[in-house]
Amino acid sequence: MSTKRILSGIQPTSDSFHLGNYLGALKQWVELQDGNDAFYCIVDLHALTGDIDPTLLRKRILTSAAQLIALGISPEKSTLFVQSHVAEHNQLGWIMECIAGFGEANRMTQFKDKSAKGGADSARVGLFTYPMLQAADILLYQAHYVPVGEDQRQHIELTRDLATRFNSRFGETFRIPEGHILKSGAKIYDLQEPTNKMSKSSGSAAGVLEIMDTPEANIKKIKSATTDAGREVTFDEKEKPGISNLLTIHSALSGESISNLENQFAGKGYGDFKSAVAEVVVEYLRPIRERALELLQDEAHLVKVLHGGADKARSVASATVADTYKNLGLVL
Ligand code: TYM
Repeated sequence: MSTKRILSGIQPTSDSFHLGNYLGALKQWVELQDGNDAFYCIVDLHALTGDIDPTLLRKRILTSAAQLIALGISPEKSTLFVQSHVAEHNQLGWIMECIAGFGEANRMTQFKDKSAKGGADSARVGLFTYPMLQAADILLYQAHYVPVGEDQRQHIELTRDLATRFNSRFGETFRIPEGHILKSGAKIYDLQEPTNKMSKSSGSAAGVLEIMDTPEANIKKIKSATTDAGREVTFDEKEKPGISNLLTIHSALSGESISNLENQFAGKGYGDFKSAVAEVVVEYLRPIRERALELLQDEAHLVKVLHGGADKARSVASATVADTYKNLGLVL
């Protein structure tokens, strides 16, 4: 495969990324940085669309960077940066808002879900315009592929629509990106409510496996995961969503196929299976958490790495903005 441009982003909205983020997106980020030209962005401006706590936000941006490096994003191989360091995101974001229709923005299910949670009146305008900023994030870098989880599919479709519309009205300006969404792992479910996705905004932390949690906390969460009727460890998303989710997690981390796992646990019951899942998860996450904590000891170094990434990102992004402005008839 020839070198492709990759772009993706993650919000620094919690003290830790969770296993859904990792298996749906971040694991792909690590794989795709080899042999491609990858840009990975901590989307701090997107995080401003929810409640803002300045002390927490700063800490979470740095913890995000530490986790990304600890889980394998190499600042030498890929361009790792913070969105607010590259002003071009805001510049192209505004252009995308002027290209998007109110109706299509209004159809975004993530906006509907999030605004419904807090009550429509408390939702910010920024939450509504969020997908246009996300489109800008992607289009600025002329990305071929955008590795994300299933929940981002609609935002990628919107990005493609906006880029296609812009190109046909104002001339070829943007590459039309494609989502890079896995067949297995694209949606990891909450351990307590295995029909809902694992999410940082979930009501209870008990169903969310966090990279920065202690091994003991994660073992406890897995052992108290909701299971299903029966006692066979078999993959059946309809009848056994809890066990199927745990099978997906085990398989994605251990590399063993789901059918092998089913055979291995035939006749053994849920208790043994959960202990095995706990062991796999905890041993996988242990070195990542330890490395992230180590990296957080030297904030100045982390900030320096992020500034270096922003310089590289800006050089690509500014060329796209110049092209966009020119094609729109703005005087440069
Ligand atoms: P965010 O920060 O909510 O999530 C980061 C990534 O994790 C994936 N993900 C999941 N995958 C599988 N199972 C889950 N339970 C699960 N929960 C989250 C998400 O799909 C995502 O890939 N709008 C984006 C951030 C963004 C972005 C971008 C992404 C802003 N600009 C440009 C790609 C390109 C978001 O809120 O992701």
